[in-house]
Amino acid sequence: MNLLVIGSGGREHSICYKLRQSSRVSKLFCMPGNAGTEKIAENISQDISNFEEVYKIIKKNVVDIVIIGPEEPLVNGITDFLEKKLVKVFGPNKFAAQLEGSKAFMKNLCKKNNIPTANFGIFEKYEEAAKFIEESQIPIVIKADGLAAGKGVLICNSKDEALIETKKILEGKFKSSKKVVIEEFLEGEELSYFVVVDKNSYSFFGSAQDHKRVGEGDTGPNTGGMGAYSPARNLTKDLEFKIKKKIIEPTIQAMKNSGNPYKGFLYAGLMVKNDEPYLIEYNIRMGDPECQVLMMKLKTDLLNIVEAAINNDLNKLKIEWDNKKCITIVLCAKGYPGDYIKDKEIENLSKVHLDKNNQIFHAGTYKINEKIFSKGGRVLNVTSSSNDLYEARNNSLSNLEKIKWNNGFFRKDIGWRAIKKK
Ligand code: AMP
Ligand code: GLY
Repeated sequence: MNLLVIGSGGREHSICYKLRQSSRVSKLFCMPGNAGTEKIAENISQDISNFEEVYKIIKKNVVDIVIIGPEEPLVNGITDFLEKKLVKVFGPNKFAAQLEGSKAFMKNLCKKNNIPTANFGIFEKYEEAAKFIEESQIPIVIKADGLAAGKGVLICNSKDEALIETKKILEGKFKSSKKVVIEEFLEGEELSYFVVVDKNSYSFFGSAQDHKRVGEGDTGPNTGGMGAYSPARNLTKDLEFKIKKKIIEPTIQAMKNSGNPYKGFLYAGLMVKNDEPYLIEYNIRMGDPECQVLMMKLKTDLLNIVEAAINNDLNKLKIEWDNKKCITIVLCAKGYPGDYIKDKEIENLSKVHLDKNNQIFHAGTYKINEKIFSKGGRVLNVTSSSNDLYEARNNSLSNLEKIKWNNGFFRKDIGWRAIKKK
């Protein structure tokens, strides 16, 4: 089969890595890809927001299945567009993609279906939002309704700050957001829980904890993710049962009832408080960098999973996982998540020995004349698995030491909650 993976991050490199292990994959394309995907797939340079052009390339290359990595094309309806042209797509349609594309949609769905989430209000008018803020406790969380490239959530420690941020959003700080969602601050420990879904059933697709803050000890501004490990230390059997019954199943049922059954990966960002799960957000795709650790642990052929979901046959497939613990540490360009250094050569990558327990997934990289350069804030995902998470982290750290790059930084404490006793 010929497959096309859309995207250019560490997530997409790890998806390509896993697909390459399938004997059923003939040609593998990645659009636009990076220097890592280039080694195992054919990169196609194309603006992925131009669906007509994407379709032409799919036809020309006789692609059988398209797998969408990032949220933006899904929220903009790439699945609907391609399915109308009879292309098989792994990823939800535009309606279902609102679970991530509109926080107001997600919160209203929770309310209607009694899904546990932070108390909230949705506002289009400043005066009403201000009244709500005045009557609320601090800290309080201010969220832009639409996609905001990870910058749309602010945890405010004063009402004045909350009022200022609300005003900015309502005045159009983010083009995608005319509304603001204001919600109660939930205290607890976060957990990322993944499922793969089709019309008839869903299957567990791993758990992880990621580290969103830029600095060690979870300090400083939010990023796309500085590292992740799997499985999450706080996922117990009892908690998982509650996540499925109180959050995942009512959501999948609500999407079915709406006439838009969900298809693809669904990622629940949860807060766990007193052994109870609360939904913070849904993502309609795999997490990045969570995907990188899950692809190292996945034993089942990923193509079989994707195909089963497209054919609504997931209930016939048993998805198997390696018992090992896995960790990924993100090497970022200095300055990230603010303005960061670009176009700097990364040396000595070939000094890192890669095998089934040690991989480097590229994110913002490109290649010229066999040399690798940086172009993104998050540049490489140095990933290791082992029976012991502490050892896995040490392996990633020693692989990072072999890479010669004075323009980057990374966190040494990824996975600290799970390995703090060492
Ligand atoms: P999101 O963009 O929705 O993933 O939010 C980014 C991060 O903000 C989450 O991963 C949480 O750490 C934090 N966050 C969002 N909403 C809340 C909330 N209601 N209470 C506490 N933390 C939150
Ligand atoms: N790692 C967080 C995300 O993918 O949204």
